[in-house]
This record gives sequence, structure tokens and C-alpha cells, in this order.
Amino acid sequence: MRLIDLRSDTVTMPTSAMREAMCAAPVGDDVFGEDPSVNALEERIAGMFGKEDALFCASGTMSNQLAIQVHARPGDEVICDEGAHIYRYEGGGTMANSGCSVALLRGDRGRFTAGQVREAIHDPANPHLAASRLVSVENSANRGGGSTWDLQEVHRIRAVCNAHGLALHLDGARIFNAMAVDGMGPAAWGAPFDSVSVCLSKGLGAPVGSVLTGNKDFIAHARRVRKRTGGGMRQAGMLAAAGLYALDHHVQRLSTDHHRATLLGAAMAGRADVHHVMPVETNIVVASLAPGTDAQAWVAKFREQGILMAVFGPGMVRLVTHLGVDDSALEQALGAIRLFGK
Ligand SMILES: Cc1ncc(COP(=O)(O)O)c(C=O)c1O
Repeated sequence: MRLIDLRSDTVTMPTSAMREAMCAAPVGDDVFGEDPSVNALEERIAGMFGKEDALFCASGTMSNQLAIQVHARPGDEVICDEGAHIYRYEGGGTMANSGCSVALLRGDRGRFTAGQVREAIHDPANPHLAASRLVSVENSANRGGGSTWDLQEVHRIRAVCNAHGLALHLDGARIFNAMAVDGMGPAAWGAPFDSVSVCLSKGLGAPVGSVLTGNKDFIAHARRVRKRTGGGMRQAGMLAAAGLYALDHHVQRLSTDHHRATLLGAAMAGRADVHHVMPVETNIVVASLAPGTDAQAWVAKFREQGILMAVFGPGMVRLVTHLGVDDSALEQALGAIRLFGK
């Protein structure tokens, strides 16, 4: 039986062409700044997002965590959505690595407003309160079911940050998915942010890597923090080459993933044991099961049918489309969702 893995877009395997690009990549010692492929990837991402410099990182967690460490000091506070990856899924890193507290906003499927940010900012003259230092936006928002942000609202948040001396970071693990929906380019998305983390190993299908981009001083500091964290890689160009290949070949196809996710969402909504499906905007489908349904057991039953989904909280499941889900895999998944257990 063919397993259709819808748990995450991180499960993709590098294609043969991507592997060839990796094998052929010119490499050097990146800690000495001498890896031509890493340098090319960093220059490319910085150029796309309109920033001065960039840094290749082992993971999205690393690039987010470096950004927080550079923007904030121990005792500062980071403002983000309550479902933000930087808060929920980075091993407590925001608190442990940067010594920061978090102000959690209840957004609309991961998207909060400039007004909410303004209300969360502490009075800097009040010594009882942590110093508000950084706002972090996640686009697309994973726990929001792949929801996408309105760039105008981000500009309003930028204005609030400017008024209060806060930095603004974008966790763009799936920014290319979000841009495929709103049609705005990376220069437009980079503009309001001080730093952007872009993942290559999610929807773009590279095996490893994220790139952090920002101004020269910010990246120089992030490079130091990466080094002291043990994240300085040597002949990393083979990995960077996969990212370059993904930027050339795997961006245009993202809307196909989004269309397939829409079909999966509709099939899920048609099941009596599914209570609610979040609106599907990108490649992520998040559904709440009928009250009382054990999500672990529900997912286990689908696994027996060859369909792998992720438990996404009590009574919640997540399905994600990606490079490894083609039309025949989609048909198999749709068939199982429509018919199994009915
Ligand atoms: C929104 C978001 N940010 C950051 C990350 C972290 O990426 P990584 O798994 O490469 O550390 C993820 C991972 O899935 C994510 O979904």
C-alpha cells in the first residue's frame, strides 16, 4: 500500500534533479565565508527581500531564535500570536535562549491587529513591566490553518513599532505560500520587517535550511550568535544548492499544492465526524473533529488506510499538501476521506 504523507510539508524528499544540483554545487568553508553556493543563496534571498545581507541557517527554529537573540535582551518581551511557532514549537527557545517573556495576542487564526499590538506594549517608564522589544508575525500562520496576512495591516503594525521603538520580525517559514496567494512579491513583504526568516525545507521542498535576512549589522550579530550556538557549517554549499534549486523550480508550483489542499478541506468538511474545517488558503488544512472524538485514534485509523495526518491538538488534525503529493496521491487521499468509516 502506498503511504500518502499529509502530516507536514517537511516530509518531502529531494527530487533527482535537486540531488544532481546538490552534487554539482561548488563548495568551500562557509565559516571562512568561502562557500560560493552559500554566498549565492544568501545574496539571492537578501536581494529578493530587499535586505543588505543574509545568513544560511540549519533550520527555521535556528533562524527565528537568532533573530530574537539579536533583537532582544534578557528581560525584554516579545509580542506574538498565542499560536506562534516561536512560542509554542521552538522548545521554549524564546525564553531559554533570549531570556525573554512573551505577550501573547489572540489573533484571528494567527493574525493580530496593530491595535492589539499597541495595547500590549508596556509603558517603558514602569519598572514593574518587561520592556516590550519585538513583534513577531508568522505568514502563513501554521496554527491558523495556513492563513495569510494582509500586508496593509503589517504596515500599520510597523507604524506602531516605529512609534514605540520596537523591532518587527517575520517568521516566513511559508512566506512563498503566502505570496502565491496575495501576489505580492518578496520586496513588498520584506519592506516592513527588520528581519525575515525564510524556510527552504517546507513548501519549497529542500531537505535542509532556512535563511535569515536583515541589515548588515543585524546579520553580522546573528552570524556570531549562530557560531556560538554551534551552527557554523563548513561545506554547506551542497545544502544551499538545494535551496537555490528550490527557488528556481519549486515556487511556481505552490498554487497547485493550495488547490489540492482546498479539495482535501472540502472532503474533510463532508464527513459527519468532522465538526469544522478552517478556511483553506494555502497548503494547510486544519480540522476539528466531532466533540468527543479521540484525534489519536482517528488518525491511527486513517494510517491503516495509508493516509498519514498529524494530530494538531485535542480533537484537531492537520493535513498538509506538498511536492510529494501528486494527483494520484490526492485521489487516494480524497477517496479515503470521502468513504472510509462511513
Ligand atoms: C511557522 C513555522 N516557523 C518555523 C518553523 C521551524 O522550522 P524548522 O522545523 O526548520 O526548525 C516551522 C516548522 O514547521 C513553522 O511551521
